[in-house]
Amino acid sequence: MVTPAAVLLMIAGSLWWRHGVSARQIAMLRSDPEQVLADPVLRNHALADGRKVFLTHCTSCHGAAGKGDPSKAMPDLTDKDFLYGRGRVGEIEQIVLHGIRAGDSKGRDLAEMPGFAKAEPYTREKLPSLTPAQISDIVGFLRAANGNGGYDLARIGRGHKLFSTNGACWDCHASDGAGDAAVGAPNLIDGVWLKGNGSEADLTDIIEHGMAGISPAFQHSISAYDARAVAVYTASLHPSVRAPS
Ligand code: HEC
Ligand code: HEC
Repeated sequence: MVTPAAVLLMIAGSLWWRHGVSARQIAMLRSDPEQVLADPVLRNHALADGRKVFLTHCTSCHGAAGKGDPSKAMPDLTDKDFLYGRGRVGEIEQIVLHGIRAGDSKGRDLAEMPGFAKAEPYTREKLPSLTPAQISDIVGFLRAANGNGGYDLARIGRGHKLFSTNGACWDCHASDGAGDAAVGAPNLIDGVWLKGNGSEADLTDIIEHGMAGISPAFQHSISAYDARAVAVYTASLHPSVRAPS
């Protein structure tokens, strides 16, 4: 049964909707997210509004220019290296709304980097821990795969073997080390680092202690329009679709 109070609420709600969300915002929410950048009118509004949202909600971690900070494992959002997916607007919007490892059931949370110096490195799946010598061999292999670190072939060979067998690295990062964007396991052979700069010390630290970065879920703190706009703006930071300045 519809009570008079419910009718009043419905009228108030629709008025709020009309006043709170403009026709332009509705048009952007209804459009295919991947097409917003191709539509000159929607694009300009999305970039202007999205930039404001970015500066308010994303700059503290990703930097005002979206360049991130490898000393804090904050990813660069302007490069071609994507932890998840291919940098499409819809994929970024999903991260904005539901986050990464942010405790949101619709967010990205399929894998994290185990700490292999621990007795039981990974809680979801039992993995063997690695000795300091084994970790050092894997570091030698990864440094060589990125074109540096000297040429101790025996060490590189042992490291490669561990990487693609019982080190279990291949399981998430693929046997060639190129990563897996479905679970957020980064490419380890492209010279781009989420954390640190690929030095002997940085790689050893990551493999010993693991990592599990968090991007917050904004679904309760920003509007659907703002989430779409900031996703379009973030996608435009990619070099091939650089925003007009
Ligand atoms: C509290 C810090 C923090 C804030 C605020 C934050 N992020 Fe993140 N974000 C991260 C971290 C850390 C990661 C890397 C997560 C990981 O390691 O998997 C990340 C990852 C991402 C990624 C995936 C990057 C890639 O290379 O694939 C996108 C896209 C992203 N954030 C967008 C945003 C946007 C847009 C906002 C603002 C609406 C935002 N983030 C706010 C910390 C933050
Ligand atoms: C269960 C899946 C899983 C396994 C197994 C795994 N990793 Fe990872 N690894 C990840 C994920 C996910 C990340 C990204 C973590 C984050 O975003 O905070 C990562 C990050 C890394 C990084 C940091 C990359 C960067 O760009 O800074 C290195 C190095 C690394 N892993 C090496 C290894 C090695 C070596 C092994 C084997 C000893 C291994 N991983 C095993 C999932 C895994």
